[in-house]
Amino acid sequence: MFTMMIFIINTILVTSSPSILRPGFYSKTCPKAETIVRDVMKKALLKEPRSLASVMRFQFHDCFVNGCDASMLLDDTPTMLGEKLALSNINSLRSFEVVDKVKEALEKACPGVVSCADIIIMASRDAVALTGGPDWEVKLGRLDSLTASQEDSNNIMPSPRANATALITLFKKYNLSVKDLVALSGSHSIGQGRCFSIMFRLYNQSGSGKPDPAIDPHFRAELDKLCPLDVDQNKTGNLDATPVIFDNQYFKDLVGGRGFLNSDQTLYTFPQTRGFVKLYSEDQKKFFEAFAEGMVKMGDLQSGRPGEVRKNCRVVNPRPAHFLIENNLQDSDLPM
Ligand code: HEM
Ligand SMILES: *[C@@H]1O[C@H](CO)[C@@H](O)[C@H](O)[C@H]1NC(C)=O
Ligand SMILES: *[C@@H]1O[C@H](CO)[C@@H](O)[C@H](O)[C@H]1NC(C)=O
Ligand SMILES: *[C@@H]1O[C@H](CO)[C@@H](O)[C@H](O)[C@H]1NC(C)=O
Ligand SMILES: *[C@@H]1O[C@H](CO)[C@@H](O)[C@H](O)[C@H]1NC(C)=O
Repeated sequence: MFTMMIFIINTILVTSSPSILRPGFYSKTCPKAETIVRDVMKKALLKEPRSLASVMRFQFHDCFVNGCDASMLLDDTPTMLGEKLALSNINSLRSFEVVDKVKEALEKACPGVVSCADIIIMASRDAVALTGGPDWEVKLGRLDSLTASQEDSNNIMPSPRANATALITLFKKYNLSVKDLVALSGSHSIGQGRCFSIMFRLYNQSGSGKPDPAIDPHFRAELDKLCPLDVDQNKTGNLDATPVIFDNQYFKDLVGGRGFLNSDQTLYTFPQTRGFVKLYSEDQKKFFEAFAEGMVKMGDLQSGRPGEVRKNCRVVNPRPAHFLIENNLQDSDLPM
């Protein structure tokens, strides 16, 4: 009886992954979930178009670090260094308040049902669809992590300096192909990057003391003007020529030597990825199909660790006292 109790309490509070993901996971428990997410994203688009790009980026930074589990949304605590201040995220990830708004709306409609991990997946899809990109069916049923790891994020997330070879190797670890890599990089069709992310390529590519030779000279003059040596490195520039429209302009820009990040331009410079860049620059439909496919594959990544449905995406749910006693735990044993 006692073990039974613990079992029940454990199942209520924390469920063991991996979950089986499927479309329509909330059709009985929260039938309006997908509509609610899209409505909040529509409001975000009206308020600040860039916030859609910022939210869409969350899927990449969440899913690559121990699976799509919203670990990236957890604030730091005295006992846990979260992912928000990791190398690729600090002074860069933004628009967390949009996810908070989605969560608030969902908690009002169906309290305790929809995970923050699923919110990231739905909101990313909506960000693309609402800015002119493809729309697709998402699989749902993820759980939210009980912890986060700044160290894992530091070790995993790629630098804007990365070349195509390094990116191919990284994506391969997640069973994502060269095609997936190029298509998913097309996410940079929307949004902005900081001068901080391109200073080296403007002034000291690979320690050469010179700019990256792959940059088109006219475009380089523009970037030099945007980011002179003494610039506030938080200043931002557009990732492609049409930064609030999700289209294949990004690939046309790469073909023209007008990629913003080194990690973008390298996809055209290196022969392993050039073919896909050319293809997508000429065929937006093929890009859209490959992008949606890549997002679904990336959304399948799971850690296999136990999880929960957080009430607030920024913090792990509080544990009731009886859970701690019956499992012989103290508050300090828990990742909060
Ligand atoms: C292939 C490796 C990738 C690298 C090296 C990379 C790197 C970066 C960097 C350096 C920035 C600008 C950050 C800043 O300067 O503050 C950025 C922005 C962005 N990234 Fe990536 N990224 C990659 C792949 C992806 C993927 C797979 C997605 C989503 C599917 C994505 C979505 C975005 C978006 C939407 C922005 C603009 C965000 C905004 O405007 O706030 N990126 N990325
Ligand atoms: C690509 O980057 C990796 C890792 O930084 C480096 O070892 C390699 O030499 C680079 N490849 C080329 C062809 O520049
Ligand atoms: C990639 O696929 C292999 C073989 O199907 C599987 O064993 C492995 O767990 C997958 N890796 C990831 C990160 O999903
Ligand atoms: C360029 O990079 C190299 C190697 O990282 C470094 O030694 C050198 O001081 C840098 N030059 C400038 C002008 O920053
Ligand atoms: C960017 O802004 C943040 C916060 O406002 C500041 O702490 C940081 O030093 C700035 N970074 C750069 C590279 O100027």
